[in-house]
Order: sequence, then C-alpha cells, then structure tokens
Amino acid sequence: MLQLLHIRKTYISKSKNKVDALHGVSLSFPKRGLVFIVGKSGCGKTTLLNILGGLDAPTEGEVLFCGRQVDLRDARAADEYRARHIGFVFQDYNLLERDNVLANVRLGALLGGGTQERAAKALRRVGLEEYASHLPSELSGGQKQRVAVARALVKDADVLLADEPTGNLDSRTSEEIFALLQEVARERLVIVVTHDEESAKVYGERSEPHSSMPSTRHGAKSIFSAESKDDCYAKMS
Ligand SMILES: Nc1ncnc2c1ncn2[C@@H]1O[C@H](COP(=O)(O)OP(=O)(O)O)[C@@H](O)[C@H]1O
Ligand SMILES: [Mg+2]
Repeated sequence: MLQLLHIRKTYISKSKNKVDALHGVSLSFPKRGLVFIVGKSGCGKTTLLNILGGLDAPTEGEVLFCGRQVDLRDARAADEYRARHIGFVFQDYNLLERDNVLANVRLGALLGGGTQERAAKALRRVGLEEYASHLPSELSGGQKQRVAVARALVKDADVLLADEPTGNLDSRTSEEIFALLQEVARERLVIVVTHDEESAKVYGERSEPHSSMPSTRHGAKSIFSAESKDDCYAKMS
C-alpha cells in the first residue's frame, strides 16, 4: 500500500557536483511483510528509505500511501506523515544516552500520546522489560537495537523502516534482530535496507530485480501484486 512512482533524486553537492542517486524507481509494497532492499554501498538505499519515510523529498516522482499522494515537499505534510505512520530503526540505534530504556521507548510515541503502559508493553514485546530502568550504555548492541525497535513499535506505526539495522552487530545478534523484525512484520510493513545479501536470502522469500535499484526481497506474496482497496490502512480512512 506504499508506492513509489518514477522517483528520481538528484543531489547537488557543496562542490556543485550532481549525483543522480535514484533514477526512476517505481516500487509497490504490501501492507504487511518483511521486505529487503539490498545493494552495494552508494547505490541509493538510504536515499530511497529516507524518501519512503518522508525524511527527504524526491526531485521528481510521487510517494503514494494508501493511494493518496504524500506531498513530501511540504514540510508539515511530511511531518504528519512521519508522525502518524512511520517508525525508524537506524544502524547506530540513535538512543538518548542520558535517558533510561523506558524513557527512550516512550519518546517514539510522544506525538501520538505515548503512555508508560504502552512503552512497557513494547519493551515486553522485544524481551527487555527487565531493562526498563537501565541506561543505554549498560546494554549490548543487540539490546540497544531491540530498544530502538520497541521505540518504533510504541506508536503502532504502519511502516517500520530500518537502515542497516545490523550493521554494527555480530552475525548471531543480527539473526536475533532479523527474527524480531520478521515477527513484527506479521502485522505491519517492515522495510530493511542492508548490504547483507545472505540474511536477505534467509529472511526474505523472493527477490525482484529493478532497473535502477538493487533487488528487493520480502516475505509476502509479491510486492508488484495488484492491491485491493481493502488493503488500505485503517488510519487513513
Ligand atoms: N546529502 C548528499 N549530498 C550529495 N550526495 C549525496 C548525499 N547523500 C547521498 N549522496 C550520494 O548519493 C548516492 C547514494 O547514496 P546513499 O543513498 O547514501 O547510498 P547507500 O545507502 O546505498 O550507501 C551516493 O553516490 C552518495 O554519495
Ligand atoms: Mg546507506
């Protein structure tokens, strides 16, 4: 239900050089499931994810959510889209070091009115309820990333976007995070950007090559399948 139509992104750097990061990407994502976007460093994965999440606007093309265009060039519309529908997980966790685990998770829901209870529930979901009062510096990398996933879950985001979520983790801990994301993807769309093609093969069931983008893997039927209107997110109706 999230769609990209003919997305182009051109960066003009400080040195006035032009970089065509994305040249005409069209992709359609299902309502639920785990989708992997894989490709080499510099091929435009982060750019794509940032546009999907409303952190950046495309130079050309459209982002459709539930069939409606999201005007990412309008800062307020982009903010609202992000706040209502999107959760982010980053490679370096982005936790606030001064705040304890529970407070970090609550932050994810501030705009949606995050309660202590919902934050505690999200922490339980990722298996870290006993760590609520710990500081991030007292956690392992894998635990920190679990906190970041809980923070993304607490506002019940329709779409969870993860940019190299296992980039700083060893292979065993990475497997745990992918298994968690797979579980979370049963009830929402999870898009993972990674250069780790092996994990994408293990956790995704299908790949879709794309002309100007790396292949895309996911655990749902087909991301290019025709989607019915019933697929729309309830919140949009
Ligand atoms: N803010 C920016 N200004 C200029 N060029 C950028 C900027 N961000 C990314 N790029 C360029 O766009 C291309 C794609 O970058 P990126 O999306 O970060 O790739 P990936 O995440 O796949 O490694 C690269 O050539 C990169 O140098
Ligand atoms: Mg990147």
